[in-house]
Amino acid sequence: MRFRGGPVLGIESSCDETSAAIVSDRRVLGHVILSQDAHAVFGGVVPEIAARQHLVHIDEVVAQALDEARIRPAELTGVGVTAGPGLVGALLVGLNWAKGFGYALSIPVIGVHHMEAHLFANSLESHDATPPFVALLISGGHTLLLHAPAWGRYELLGSTRDDAVGEAFDKVARRIGLGFPGGPEIERLARKGDAGTYSLPRRMLSGRDAPGDPAWFDFSFSGLKTAASRLMAAIEKGDEKDIDAARPHVAAEFQEAVIEVLTAKTMRAVEHTGCRRVLLGGGVARNGPLRERLAACLEPDGRLFAPSPRLSTDNAAMVARLAEHRLAGGEVDGLDLNADPRLPFPGLFSSTPDRSEAR
Ligand code: KG4
Ligand code: ZN
Repeated sequence: MRFRGGPVLGIESSCDETSAAIVSDRRVLGHVILSQDAHAVFGGVVPEIAARQHLVHIDEVVAQALDEARIRPAELTGVGVTAGPGLVGALLVGLNWAKGFGYALSIPVIGVHHMEAHLFANSLESHDATPPFVALLISGGHTLLLHAPAWGRYELLGSTRDDAVGEAFDKVARRIGLGFPGGPEIERLARKGDAGTYSLPRRMLSGRDAPGDPAWFDFSFSGLKTAASRLMAAIEKGDEKDIDAARPHVAAEFQEAVIEVLTAKTMRAVEHTGCRRVLLGGGVARNGPLRERLAACLEPDGRLFAPSPRLSTDNAAMVARLAEHRLAGGEVDGLDLNADPRLPFPGLFSSTPDRSEAR
């Protein structure tokens, strides 16, 4: 089955967003994102609930997206679906739905990598968000610093050695007494506080690191998370009213520590590669102060590409866009396409021997 160009349906169900979109020649014709709110009371995503919720909503989400696009199923020319990484039960709902739909319509189906799709979100809004570029992909499950000389070829420069940056935002938010997801809550509270009132560590940013050290591009957020928790414990020994007054300062200092590390490592990648175009992707890319800092660091001759907020967090438009790109390149999957919770990033390579394992 060959792709002949035209509207592509994208399906995303790797975590707690059920989403469908129709994209044609980089234009989003219809796009529906249903964020499951059933997880909020648990302070994190419950895999079993996520899978069941996808199953309940996927039909209506696709129908709404088609409606919005004013497209009949028979007009679709391909289907793209997130095949991993993610929660396996959640992934399987979208994947099986997409395979059944593609088979029924006799149109090609392709499985895509969720984090590569985050990268492609940029190309829906900026036609010049093309390689070569440095990419910082920051989400609830991943923290990746890449250099892309071409689409589909990604040099791994750095990644997290423990927690993903979004995970740190979520856990610290919970410790401060904020809701889930924690990133937007911390950003909001931090506006009322001052970074520097307290001091939290900037891990893997020691003055002793040098280019060529394995630590030069890598991240670590677990120590920062623990330090924030210890700081809260110390503050909680004081008066109730002092605890309330301290929360915004802790949020601001935590956010500042994250921004300093992410910005410094990204700028190291820019120096190392000589490439002054940086693409952001993933839910944490929504963070306003982070975007402002990175954009300022890249001035005057560099450029930051960052998707609009709706296209930064999980969505199906980015999946449809990547599917469109790969289908146009002649790729297609068979009915044996399976969900892989640890799907390796396609085209990932490393120039340093100790990074040869694909993450
Ligand atoms: O990409 P995404 O929607 O899902 C995953 O693939 O993980 O990312 C979700 C993550 C969550 O950890 C959430 O707290 C974080 O993105 N996030 C933010 C902001 N908005 C969402 N982190 C910092 N600042 C934000 N404004
Ligand atoms: Zn994501």
